[in-house]
Amino acid sequence: MASFRMVFLILIIFFILQTASSSSWKTLNAGKPPVVIARGGFSGLLPDSSDSAYGMVNLTTAPDVTLWCDLQLTKDNAGICFPNLNFDNGSNVKNVYPNHKEWRSVDFTWKELSTVTLKQDVFSRPNIFDGVSNILPIEEVAKIGTSGLWLNIQHSDFYTQHNLSMRNYVVSLSSRMKINFISSPEISFLKSMKKDAKPTKTKLIFRFLNQDQIDPFTNQSYASLAKNLSYIKKFASGILVPKFYIWPISSDLYLQPHTSLVTDAHRQGLQVFASDFANDFVVAYNYSYDPTTEYLHFIDNGNFSVDGFLSDFPLTPYRAINCFSQLDKKKAKKQGNVTIISKNGASGDFTDCTDLAYEKAVRDGVDIIDCTVQVSKDKIPFCMSSIDLMNVTNVFDTSFRNLSSTASEIKETNHRSGIFTFSLTMSQIQTLKPVISNPHREQNLFRNPRNNNLGKFLTLSEFLLLPNRYSSLSGILIKVEHAAYLATHQGISIVDAVLDELKRATSKILIQSTEKSVLMEFKEKGKMSNEELVYVVDEDINDVTDSAVKDIKSFAGSVVISKKSVVPYHEEIVRIQNETNVVPKLRSSGLRVYVETFSNEFVTQPFDFFSDPTVEIDYFVRGYPEVDGIITDFPATTARYIKNQCYRQMGMIRTGELVPLANKEILPPAEVPYPSLVDSNVAEPPLPEVRSQPPPASAPTKAKSKAQEVQVSFNVRTMLVLVSFFVIV
Ligand SMILES: *[C@@H]1O[C@H](CO)[C@@H](O)[C@H](O)[C@H]1NC(C)=O
Ligand SMILES: *[C@@H]1O[C@H](CO)[C@@H](O)[C@H](O)[C@H]1NC(C)=O
Ligand SMILES: *[C@@H]1O[C@H](CO)[C@@H](O)[C@H](O)[C@H]1NC(C)=O
Ligand SMILES: *[C@@H]1O[C@H](CO)[C@@H](O)[C@H](O)[C@H]1NC(C)=O
Ligand SMILES: *[C@@H]1O[C@H](CO)[C@@H](O)[C@H](O)[C@H]1NC(C)=O
Ligand SMILES: *[C@@H]1O[C@H](CO)[C@@H](O)[C@H](O)[C@H]1NC(C)=O
Ligand SMILES: *[C@@H]1O[C@H](CO)[C@@H](O)[C@H](O)[C@H]1NC(C)=O
Ligand SMILES: *[C@@H]1O[C@H](CO)[C@@H](O)[C@H](O)[C@H]1NC(C)=O
Ligand SMILES: *[C@@H]1O[C@H](CO)[C@@H](O)[C@H](O)[C@H]1NC(C)=O
Ligand SMILES: *[C@@H]1O[C@H](CO)[C@@H](O)[C@H](O)[C@H]1NC(C)=O
Ligand SMILES: *[C@@H]1O[C@H](CO)[C@@H](O)[C@H](O)[C@H]1NC(C)=O
Repeated sequence: MASFRMVFLILIIFFILQTASSSSWKTLNAGKPPVVIARGGFSGLLPDSSDSAYGMVNLTTAPDVTLWCDLQLTKDNAGICFPNLNFDNGSNVKNVYPNHKEWRSVDFTWKELSTVTLKQDVFSRPNIFDGVSNILPIEEVAKIGTSGLWLNIQHSDFYTQHNLSMRNYVVSLSSRMKINFISSPEISFLKSMKKDAKPTKTKLIFRFLNQDQIDPFTNQSYASLAKNLSYIKKFASGILVPKFYIWPISSDLYLQPHTSLVTDAHRQGLQVFASDFANDFVVAYNYSYDPTTEYLHFIDNGNFSVDGFLSDFPLTPYRAINCFSQLDKKKAKKQGNVTIISKNGASGDFTDCTDLAYEKAVRDGVDIIDCTVQVSKDKIPFCMSSIDLMNVTNVFDTSFRNLSSTASEIKETNHRSGIFTFSLTMSQIQTLKPVISNPHREQNLFRNPRNNNLGKFLTLSEFLLLPNRYSSLSGILIKVEHAAYLATHQGISIVDAVLDELKRATSKILIQSTEKSVLMEFKEKGKMSNEELVYVVDEDINDVTDSAVKDIKSFAGSVVISKKSVVPYHEEIVRIQNETNVVPKLRSSGLRVYVETFSNEFVTQPFDFFSDPTVEIDYFVRGYPEVDGIITDFPATTARYIKNQCYRQMGMIRTGELVPLANKEILPPAEVPYPSLVDSNVAEPPLPEVRSQPPPASAPTKAKSKAQEVQVSFNVRTMLVLVSFFVIV
């Protein structure tokens, strides 16, 4: 353990925050902000109840966050923190003592358990911190949690059956250390503690289990006990409830109106703590996968506020309380200087490039909306994220399915057949239903299904009128791809089609492409300036040569790169590489740098950002290296971030700092670096001439539904969470 402490000293990331103005909290102790309780420490990332998990709480939040310990007793009556009765789940006890029949704390003495190491007990979370920390006695945890300790006694009955008295142990412990809260789902235990716990010093909290479970003491379900709060007040000063007691969700994962539980409990003088919060749990679609939005529903809804959160990721509620609550999004000023650019509109919430996706993006605070231009058979340019109608419409279920063909020159098709935008006329396309994109389908994370078929696709000329309607926009971005293919195979000049529409445009326009030849044509034919042209590097890069920078500068004013070109990382592990030099090189040459794609779904962030999209955004906007723009399918998250109240006081996350905590034997080797961007990647021949007599269309091929093609690979990162979590009211 000593060695661990030293490691932490090297990680100097201190989070200095001001507590949010306290005036208007609707907590029981009106005026006092809600508290954060870290379940087993920072257990969302590090093994539950380990010294690294407990230590990480203070490092990422502040010393006033309460540490939660699931107290267990050993055969020789020592108190230890461990999340489960069965020690096989969460430690290597089975490897150390393979000949035991059962592996519970009562089967071992403290001395026997002291050599056992902890491991992650949720499969979808990283295992690289396993086998490093030992089981901790409660006294050690109390030393880390200098200002607050919460003991949870889940099974006092079980210890009684083994001739151990949890009550006597806790009473004796509380004479030696400050215990702020004691919780239990067992009424008999709380009643037995009542006369020993001074309410000013230690609060007794009744923990509710799932609503249909029966409390053995009263023979009532927990749901009916939730309606009998005056009874609970007799032996407890607060309640700890799964969050669904407060904001119920429907079986299809939509939020229902909140219950009156918090108000009712406050009326009885009971504090209310809400549990089951983690950034990597599947939540109601209403939250758009943004954990901060979920927390704010419980504390900042104008009606009530819970008195605290029990969370596996304490950083997120800590910042929700201190930085993001009571924020007037209309009046609050932008604190940082970053341009928010939508990705196909607010495509995290609505189908790509529909009127509703754009409207939502504007309402959410985007600066620039984007249109990927496709061209119909009758040569009308319109906005759609994919040249293949199968990707974003229901075309496969219509009579147009016979129009499928292959276009192997279009590399995104992966040589499969598609039903392409240039095979249908605009009026035919307008009869199709939009289909929401689901980039994280393989991880079982779906985007708002009730919005699936809503909205309509816009022609480019309709899109160009949007800035008249939405005055908050500072510009619009038009993306042009597949120009060479359309010219040679379809007889379409997409550049001319766009330039023709732009004659009537009134707002600031940016043109974006992955192809230099396209941008050169806008520069030459359209007399557009470099400032208006945006070049996309469509692969992950590790560096960029000076001559490539010089080439880009000759035809563009801005560059779009991937997040991984800024900080290389592997999805499943903690990042171990340093930032690349790409952003500093591009920016010092005078190019603006936009980075894509920022999403809310927790699978899109490296673990270094604690599965919190806001932490990731903060790193790119304020950290090293700063970027000029964020391209996002959930603009609301960045817009709220940029107006937060502790913008300059938030501690910075520095990637790679988790590495010293990892088990060196499990840590995978560094990845092979991405390639450098060199001149030959940028250089391109000019666009080919438009062929007025395109070659005969390739024979129709049999289309397969995209839904059938997607292979649902088993990804543990979300599977387990999905099964473990559904508690539906
Ligand atoms: C292990 O414990 C965790 C909670 O600490 C629980 O979520 C998980 O379901 C348990 N796994 C098994 C296999 O019992
Ligand atoms: C917690 O962090 C504070 C600084 O934020 C530091 O002064 C204190 O020593 C830390 N406490 C422990 C127990 O590490
Ligand atoms: C508990 O103590 C009683 C009486 O001393 C004894 O009969 C019983 O076997 C003990 N139970 C266990 C689980 O040790
Ligand atoms: C509340 O629960 C207690 C204990 O089970 C029971 O005696 C009492 O009748 C209940 N009150 C109501 C209103 O349900
Ligand atoms: C508990 O309640 C159920 C019905 O509410 C009843 O059938 C059962 O006998 C009760 N059990 C005890 C031990 O009182
Ligand atoms: C959640 O979203 C659904 C669908 O949009 C809506 O009907 C419902 O009212 C929302 N729930 C809350 C509490 O806002
Ligand atoms: C909270 O909302 C409920 C209805 O949902 C209402 O009856 C109650 O008065 C509200 N309380 C406050 C404090 O606004
Ligand atoms: C924001 O950045 C742009 C260029 O990136 C600069 O022109 C502008 O002055 C900056 N604004 C502020 C308030 O710093
Ligand atoms: C496909 O179906 C449409 C409408 O049913 C029909 O008009 C068209 O001729 C068909 N095209 C081919 C290539 O079979
Ligand atoms: C269609 O969607 C799939 C999966 O998202 C993607 O791999 C493919 O590149 C898309 N095709 C086109 C033509 O955009
Ligand atoms: C990252 O950079 C720092 C200093 O710039 C250096 O000390 C460290 O070795 C680098 N780490 C890796 C993994 O390259």
